[in-house]
Amino acid sequence: MSIKKIKIFAITGSTRKDSSNFKILKFISENINDQFEIEIFEDLERIPHFNPDLDDEFPPEKVIFFRNKILRADGVLICTPEYVFSLPGSLKNALEWCVSTTIFSNKKTGLITASASGEMAHQQLLLIMRTLEAKFEEHNQLLIQGIRGKVDEAGMIINSQTLEVLALFIKDFENQF
Ligand SMILES: Cc1cc2nc3c(=O)[nH]c(=O)nc-3n(C[C@H](O)[C@H](O)[C@H](O)COP(=O)(O)O)c2cc1C
Repeated sequence: MSIKKIKIFAITGSTRKDSSNFKILKFISENINDQFEIEIFEDLERIPHFNPDLDDEFPPEKVIFFRNKILRADGVLICTPEYVFSLPGSLKNALEWCVSTTIFSNKKTGLITASASGEMAHQQLLLIMRTLEAKFEEHNQLLIQGIRGKVDEAGMIINSQTLEVLALFIKDFENQF
């Protein structure tokens, strides 16, 4: 008999091919316990620009797909860099499409900003996700600074302190369920 896994929908705020944020999500998916199944969303750039006029009962197809992934997931992980002291536009855009819905209400969530500095984007990410009523505690959020020196090309985390904080983050995320 197959046991139903806990489904996590993971969103990377970077659309870059060699993204360190993607590598962190990959690392989490490989190190979380096997009750979990993590799907990393790689289509952020294909979500159309938010327009309130299109946010009616028939929103664009890509938006319906994205919203349904969140709705059906048991939890959500977001891992993003900071661009010009803010969230990358593509991530902010996708989150704007969620404001008129309740898909994030009480959704168990983990939030990581992994960037050169990232402080402003992290604050904004927490504020936006609180506004969307996502469920997370202090230990379900993490700011990793100087990220490019902490992950190598192959996706290995090469900084021991980052490995430790990520291990703790994963444990605390698992404990939400
Ligand atoms: C357009 C642009 C703006 C950036 N602005 C910031 C910034 O304000 N703060 C910061 O910490 N990093 C900034 N960065 C650097 C990113 O943190 C860095 O490129 C990071 O590795 C991106 O994540 P990724 O490896 O997942 O793509 C910027 C990068 C780009 C391309």
